[in-house]
Amino acid sequence: MKNKILVTGGAGYIGSHTCIALHEAGYDIVVYDNLSNSSPEAIKRVSTLIDQPIEFIEGDIRDAESLKQVFTAHHFFGVIHFAGLKAVGESVAKPLMYYNNNVSGTITLLEVMSEYDVKNLVFSSSATVYGDPENLPINEESPRSCTNPYGQSKLAVEHILEDLAKSDDRWNLIALRYFNPVGAHPSGQIGEDPNDIPNNLMPYISQVAVGKLKQLSIFGNDYPTVDGTGVRDFIHVTDLAQGHVAALNYLEQQTSPEKSCLDTASTKQTSSKSSSVGFLPINLGTGKGTSVLELISAFSDVSGQAIPYQFTARRAGDIASCYASANKAKSSLGWQAKLPITDMCQDTWRWQSMNPNGYNIS
Ligand code: NAD
Ligand code: UD1
Repeated sequence: MKNKILVTGGAGYIGSHTCIALHEAGYDIVVYDNLSNSSPEAIKRVSTLIDQPIEFIEGDIRDAESLKQVFTAHHFFGVIHFAGLKAVGESVAKPLMYYNNNVSGTITLLEVMSEYDVKNLVFSSSATVYGDPENLPINEESPRSCTNPYGQSKLAVEHILEDLAKSDDRWNLIALRYFNPVGAHPSGQIGEDPNDIPNNLMPYISQVAVGKLKQLSIFGNDYPTVDGTGVRDFIHVTDLAQGHVAALNYLEQQTSPEKSCLDTASTKQTSSKSSSVGFLPINLGTGKGTSVLELISAFSDVSGQAIPYQFTARRAGDIASCYASANKAKSSLGWQAKLPITDMCQDTWRWQSMNPNGYNIS
């Protein structure tokens, strides 16, 4: 049996897909989630898909006592930390809620990890930390800046992780900066299930396709892009999930005693410090940009549904183009995205048409 991993936010969209990938890679997992933006049905379906019950604890990352009980009951190799709030507009209206949940919650988690000497973490960061990028594709050295509280909360956690790594070289902290996760599990059993009217493009398109929403508004057609609409780096959620497995494998390799001995033997300068990862930011994207109109056309082709749309004004805070340099993920983690836009649309459509009301099956 491989190492045991705590997955905070594991009932959510990306977390649920990652639980499957972790299980398939042989990891033992414990999911910790307060279900503020997810459903117990997701956990049930993941259990069915992996043909095994999931160890699930309903709890909040801001609740240190509850976390301590979990860390007392289990011996974790590390934590994959998805738990957080993610709606940009809501963060502007309720900044304290976002800082409290995303920043204070992460500090509490890190304090408990430290107390239990669990120092390996994979954190869900976002391409939003790059703000309006000066150069494309965006690499990890690009300047960071954010204009909304959601983005600020991700950036604040990155700074905290950097400081922590500097303070104590036993911490191994990977920040995965996701570009635009879309798609669903190929079974059609789990996928993205927005609470309200979707803010993001792909779930909006799929709800128009299934007839829940009348038409899509395209926010701007005068950007300096291939067709005037925004360009993003859409990445299939199952590829993203594999990126987390690759990050854990990397942490295991870097922190294994054999690795330290090997390094010490082969490199004179290498001391026990060689096993420390420190703070390592890595983009998870495909490296390819797709415009809003290109995505609509691909979705329409695979689903056979028309997607009526109208052009409207630009959305405040939007940028023209955003796509990753995926080189570091390949060179350091040996990971790269495999699935094309057609699979992203096909799998989203399967999930949406099999579950027009998401997990709300009553
Ligand atoms: P999600 O909302 O589906 O999942 C987040 C999960 O965290 C939910 O199940 C929610 O109930 C849980 N949660 C929230 N606050 C919690 C708390 N205080 N204690 C315990 N559980 C809590 O979101 P997702 O799309 O799966 O995103 C996962 C992570 O990735 C988030 O941190 C998000 O900010 C980040 N991210 C997401 C995207 C995206 O487009 N989906 C892009 C970049 C980064
Ligand atoms: C948004 C967030 C970002 C977050 C990311 C993933 C904003 C300003 N940014 O990014 O912080 O990390 O989601 O959760 O909210 N579009 C339409 N019509 C729609 C929806 C979107 O035309 O109804 C366009 C947008 O203008 C953009 C593209 O589609 O050009 C992608 O939008 P979206 O899916 O919201 O992702 P981001 O804007 O990249």
